[in-house]
Amino acid sequence: MAVKRLDRLLSELGVASRSELRQIIRSGRVTVDGTAVTAPDAKIDADSCVLCLDGCVLCSRRLRYFVIDKPEGVLSATEDRRQNTVIDLLPPELRRLQLFPVGRLDKDTEGLLILTNDGDFAHRVISPKSGIEKLYLAGVDGEPDASDAEAFSEGLILGDGTRCMPAKLEPLGGGSCLVTVMEGKYHQVKRMLASRGKPVRHLRRLAVGALRIDDSTGPGWYRELDENDLCKVLESKTLGNR
Ligand code: URA
Repeated sequence: MAVKRLDRLLSELGVASRSELRQIIRSGRVTVDGTAVTAPDAKIDADSCVLCLDGCVLCSRRLRYFVIDKPEGVLSATEDRRQNTVIDLLPPELRRLQLFPVGRLDKDTEGLLILTNDGDFAHRVISPKSGIEKLYLAGVDGEPDASDAEAFSEGLILGDGTRCMPAKLEPLGGGSCLVTVMEGKYHQVKRMLASRGKPVRHLRRLAVGALRIDDSTGPGWYRELDENDLCKVLESKTLGNR
């Protein structure tokens, strides 16, 4: 049961700021299960009540999901005193939703990043046990080839002894390749390619599960995900079936 203060709950739903909400609630515009509640600190079971503002049922989508095309140079974090985070790229009404990034992309990595306030969903997406593939486009020094693809498919052991799960590398020519991994170890793709003597110069995540972004999006582009998108994210495939 998620019992919360009414003003906090409405703020998490992105209705208005905390201070605006106190006024809205005190004026009797909010009903809980059909009864006006005028105390901002009233305790509400967010999972079971019907919450209305001005007679309209508020979308009780407490759990929200977005995809953003993370630009290079921005942190995959919720806040930082000195540097811009992905949350800073959102408009104020979405910044109130307590979203956090699902996993991390390095500061200099760009591309698909999911933001949510659903911890269970985030855990599922990140966990290697879920078998959810993450697809990257890498630009490297050197030319990835079939021997690199074979080494990736066997499961690399990195210089420090870290054992990687089998992964997929598809050479594209021109010093670039597609890499598909199911886990998210620290600097994983960069370390895997470096271990093959192909240091990464540029890295962009293109897909998580079957949810893709393309080049038409551009840095900072975002949109809310619907149920269909979430099914795509959670779709797991065995490597090689793409
Ligand atoms: N692997 C990396 O090395 N960096 C990222 O940002 C994501 C995957």
